[in-house]
Amino acid sequence: MADRSNLKAALEQLYADVHSGNMFPFWATTTDVPNDEIRQLMQSRRAIPFVWSYDALIGPLLKRSADLISTADSERRSLILINPGLAPTRATVSTMYSSYRLNDPNEVMPPHRHSPNAIRFGLTGHQNFTGVEGEDIVFGPGDMVLTPHDTWHNHGNKGGEPAVNLSVLDLPLVEVLNAIYFEHDYKEKEGDALVKKKEQSARFTSDYSQRVYGRGGYMPRFVSHDRGTGAASPMYVYRWEPMREFLEEHKDWDGDPYDGLKIEYIDPTNGQPIFKTMTFFAQMLRAGEKTLPLKQTASLLVTPFEGPKGYSLVDGQRHEWGLFDTLAVPGGSWCQHVNDTSESVILFVASDEPALTKLGLFKRWGQTRDGDTIRLD
Ligand SMILES: [Fe+2]
Repeated sequence: MADRSNLKAALEQLYADVHSGNMFPFWATTTDVPNDEIRQLMQSRRAIPFVWSYDALIGPLLKRSADLISTADSERRSLILINPGLAPTRATVSTMYSSYRLNDPNEVMPPHRHSPNAIRFGLTGHQNFTGVEGEDIVFGPGDMVLTPHDTWHNHGNKGGEPAVNLSVLDLPLVEVLNAIYFEHDYKEKEGDALVKKKEQSARFTSDYSQRVYGRGGYMPRFVSHDRGTGAASPMYVYRWEPMREFLEEHKDWDGDPYDGLKIEYIDPTNGQPIFKTMTFFAQMLRAGEKTLPLKQTASLLVTPFEGPKGYSLVDGQRHEWGLFDTLAVPGGSWCQHVNDTSESVILFVASDEPALTKLGLFKRWGQTRDGDTIRLD
């Protein structure tokens, strides 16, 4: 039995030794806080709710960066949104980051591939370009292009006007799992030889994704659906127009009290989210619509894409947003969206829900109109 006569000094020495041994004493409680050891255990860096303004900040910084950084200086000219609660880690919420990219007219970067999944969502310009596994995709505002993990792709702009697009990557999650890799040695077969190439040759028609997968509910059996690794949707571009029409046609429906009118982008071959890690939605808030408070374990990245402006209440704090801004809603926050204007607003939303679902960690709670908290799933 230890000598307890000098307990305080002995405990202090013990804690000092535990900390210097790179360990955490998971029993250290104070009497004034219940379950203090659990509170302490969870005292790590956490994402906070935050808005990045496009008009005030992102747009002007992109323009300045385009003046100063050419593609000769760097293959990439993107601004990554860093959550103040997670800095210096490059993450907008714990599992995902958003970045904005301005491509000058007629610039196309060399192909590469990597373990993180990514999407591009067109904001401005009609000649954004992404080549994915031999499908050359030109896209404009509201079109979403997939670059699934391990697929060769190259980005750029094939037109005469500057183009801005938004990317969302699951890179912070892949980083936590210590599974990041990037490859740049793109080669194509020429005769018997493998030759390094600066651009991908087209192997599919430029409207392939639309032609094969663009009509929900029908599956052509005369082409192979094995594209990329098979772990993501084989439809590499989702055009804005059908999504916009879909939302418009249901404008008068009740919608969901917690989500308004929300439509998920899915893998047309199996109805699942487009990636194993992330899923994406277009969410319409009708004029005057205020969603009921919703809390979920999934983290969200919300980018208003159409409509005037609005705000979200995240854990009771008001966060105003406008066109092309990004709002980070960390998992575990209560969130409700408010459109108090006389026009519809459409939000483009990324969520890490699929990763959480696969791990059995996806849960949602809602508040009823009477203010009671209920478990939704
Ligand atoms: Fe990439």
